[in-house]
Amino acid sequence: MIEQIEKLLGQARSELASAADEKQIEAVRVKYLGKSGSLSGLRKAMGSVPAQERPRMGKLVTDAIAQFEGLLEEARKNVSRKSLEADLQREKLDVTLPGRRLERGRRHVVSQAFDDIIEIFARLGFHVADGPEIEWDLYNFEKLGFPSDHPARDMQDTFFLETRLPPPPGSPPGTHGQQLLLRTHTSPVQVREMISHPPPVRIIAPGKVYRSDSDITHTPMFHQVECLHVEEGISMAHLRGTLDAFAKAFFGPQVKTRLRPSYFPFTEPSAEVDISHPLCDGKGCRVCKFSGWLEVLGSGMVNPDVLEGVGYDPEKYTGYAFGAGIDRLAMLRHGIDDLRSLFENDVRFLEQL
Ligand code: DAH
Repeated sequence: MIEQIEKLLGQARSELASAADEKQIEAVRVKYLGKSGSLSGLRKAMGSVPAQERPRMGKLVTDAIAQFEGLLEEARKNVSRKSLEADLQREKLDVTLPGRRLERGRRHVVSQAFDDIIEIFARLGFHVADGPEIEWDLYNFEKLGFPSDHPARDMQDTFFLETRLPPPPGSPPGTHGQQLLLRTHTSPVQVREMISHPPPVRIIAPGKVYRSDSDITHTPMFHQVECLHVEEGISMAHLRGTLDAFAKAFFGPQVKTRLRPSYFPFTEPSAEVDISHPLCDGKGCRVCKFSGWLEVLGSGMVNPDVLEGVGYDPEKYTGYAFGAGIDRLAMLRHGIDDLRSLFENDVRFLEQL
């Protein structure tokens, strides 16, 4: 009997060692401990053991069954550890790997300048007006005091368009006014606004303009913002105050402005506006050519002829206007020195801003 027990346990041990999963372990258990299992058989056989041998034999069998159960338990643990290890191996995750960076998009510096300008002027009581980029000569030039042969037309290298569209209302037949072009400045919005609205007007008009020009400070397309305020009793002092408030809000409270006499056909008098260079604080540097000042826009009192041309009474109404390059304003704010870099969409450059 002892021999038989040893033999059965030996067999069971090697069978459990090669069992690969719970199912196979269960099959081994049934084989030895099931109804007709071989270890269970030993228990049944106790009946035929002589009475004085029974306690000793009974203990041997009970111990053998307990030992077998221990082997079963061990085999189960083994199998579940192996399957856990296999799972970990399969779903291997290296938590020490550096994470993947998500690139974050943001507004282009020109769009930021656009938004800031609109917000600053909204606070000053101006609303945004709009005009077409394909414009009549009539509004881009003639109504602004540039008649056909006016030399000031040469200040702006114009892209002219071929067209068969009917001429705009109010243009004398056979004149330059009927010519379509890409607007060279946002000033035609002044004319459109005044023709379609009675005074007072107080608008800004930001948008794209086009000139046949390309170098470090010029691109064929760029952005301007026009400002126009016409009302009774408006003087040069209002222009000064508005410009100064704008410059301080856009560049910072330390920025100063100054006006220099200039010429535009649609303003009289006209002035070029400089700001103290915000990056060197007016002390002078390479960018401002060591003068401490930067030219940022053109301005003036609206020429009475322009007012008359749109049907306003120049005896009653006066106004000021100015036009500024938005790209240039954005460049000065960020210390960028090549205008073209704003439009090349090189993310490595834009990311630095
Ligand atoms: N339109 C002018 C230009 O592009 C700028 C300008 C000057 C606009 C004087 C104005 C102004 O409104 O009053 O060069």
